[in-house]
Amino acid sequence: MEAEVTFLPSGSSVKVRRGTSLLDAARKAGVHIPTRCGGKAGCFMCKIKVSDDRGLLPMGDVERRKLAGMQEQSFRLACQARAAGKVEVHVPMDPLRAAVQKQLELARKKENDDKLW
Ligand code: FES
Repeated sequence: MEAEVTFLPSGSSVKVRRGTSLLDAARKAGVHIPTRCGGKAGCFMCKIKVSDDRGLLPMGDVERRKLAGMQEQSFRLACQARAAGKVEVHVPMDPLRAAVQKQLELARKKENDDKLW
């Protein structure tokens, strides 16, 4: 049986076998999710959000312990969460990229403000 995983904000979608981790699905879709532990639930860097976890297999004990309640806010670990149906995954922006983007937006805003004077 197949599952379909869509990654946001890119909108990349991929069909994978049921039980495939969201991290492996992301790799197949060409979506970068950072990891440091190689997918062993050790680094917490693959934290993502899901719109609805009904498209995932039930959470395992390792992931539950690691998330320590953050699953209540729809967070999951991409290396541990496994696709079971249709699921949308929100991948947070890389912190460095987010910082650069924020600086660019501030510079653009300042440029626009300067034009007004
Ligand atoms: S890849 Fe390290 S916790 Fe998921």
